[in-house]
Amino acid sequence: MLQVRKKVFFAIILSAALLAVILLVLALNKSGETDQTAEAPVQTTEQPDSVTPQEPKRSTEPSKQPAEAAAPSIQKDIPSLAATFKNDFAIGAALEPNQTSGLSADLMKKQVNMLVAENAMKPASIQPVEGQFKWDQADLIVAFAKANGMAVRFHTLVWHSQVPDWFFLDTQGKAMVDETDTKKREANKKLLLDRLDAHIQAIVSRYKDDIQYWDVVNEVIEPADPDGMRNSNWYKITGTDYIATAFRAAREAGGPGIKLYINDYGTDDPKKRDRLYALVKEMLDKGVPIDGVGHQTHISIYNPSVMNIIDSMKKFKELGLDNQITELDMSLYNWNDRSDLGAAVPDDILQKQAQRYKELFEALKTNAGLVSAVVFWGIADDHTWLSTFPVTRTEAPLLFDKQLQAKPAFWAIVDPSKL
Ligand code: GLA
Repeated sequence: MLQVRKKVFFAIILSAALLAVILLVLALNKSGETDQTAEAPVQTTEQPDSVTPQEPKRSTEPSKQPAEAAAPSIQKDIPSLAATFKNDFAIGAALEPNQTSGLSADLMKKQVNMLVAENAMKPASIQPVEGQFKWDQADLIVAFAKANGMAVRFHTLVWHSQVPDWFFLDTQGKAMVDETDTKKREANKKLLLDRLDAHIQAIVSRYKDDIQYWDVVNEVIEPADPDGMRNSNWYKITGTDYIATAFRAAREAGGPGIKLYINDYGTDDPKKRDRLYALVKEMLDKGVPIDGVGHQTHISIYNPSVMNIIDSMKKFKELGLDNQITELDMSLYNWNDRSDLGAAVPDDILQKQAQRYKELFEALKTNAGLVSAVVFWGIADDHTWLSTFPVTRTEAPLLFDKQLQAKPAFWAIVDPSKL
């Protein structure tokens, strides 16, 4: 009898425990459901315009702003610019060191076969303090180019901008340009040219086997200045000697294998072109080793004419020089326009840009013997200096949009039948 009571007692305990477990499981499930429903209103408030607020965010947003909402990606099945022009000229792009990985890097690997540092090789980046060279960022770009079989342009050994002040201070720390004593001015000039020589020797020696094309001097012409030479610290202290010194130092350190360029903007303008031509001729006559002219070619959908761009290259070719287009981009605005087209750029503007790019590349192809490289100042509209210059606004000067997708301008160049 006692045994039977014990069994009944244990059966009751077991059943109670089982019931407790079942209740616990049910309660947990219930609380899970409550969490999910709690999220729903948040989704709804994020999508006030949505007609189906319960749907996941992604399914409704693209219909509002298709181009902006899509995540950037690489189009693997489109032609490559570099391959399209492989028999004509190299195709390049400017980049920052952080673009040597990620999607921008993938786009460049697919589309171009030459690179240039947007900032990493300028004097202020490479030798910010006298004798202290910072190579890491420039090295990254060189290594990336090497790993992917791309050529490199060096930009730039000399410039009046993005150059550290120490170059132009005398031994007492005083600005050389303020010196009035003739003897001291001579000493300062020698000191500055020695510093320039050391800067160039160090850089060219390091990269001469990896970098084929060098902007030795940048933007030395300024037609508005009295003699047409930019009235920079370089010019005020040394006259045109800094130009001769720079080219000679680069040749001495790099040997005959590297190509040396004088780079400038607005070279399509006959007045500026002719002043540049006179300077280059004077230098060549003195035996200064200049191999080519770099034409920045920051143009707009309105000007200059393609004919002026080509005519300028023809003129320098007559001197036996190479030409490279070194910083190509095409603003959507006229040069003196400060307006903003806003986020949705009208289609007719993008079509106009496509037509201009088409006309330019047709002319370049016809005159391929004049030009050895065409380098864009950037790769896609997600990263362009024009977004903040001359004012902050929507800009789209390149061949790929902010999502890294080919624009009408890309197709106008590689396959106009797709337009
Ligand atoms: C000039 C320089 C470039 C760059 C652009 C603007 O063209 O040569 O290095 O600074 O201006 O980004």
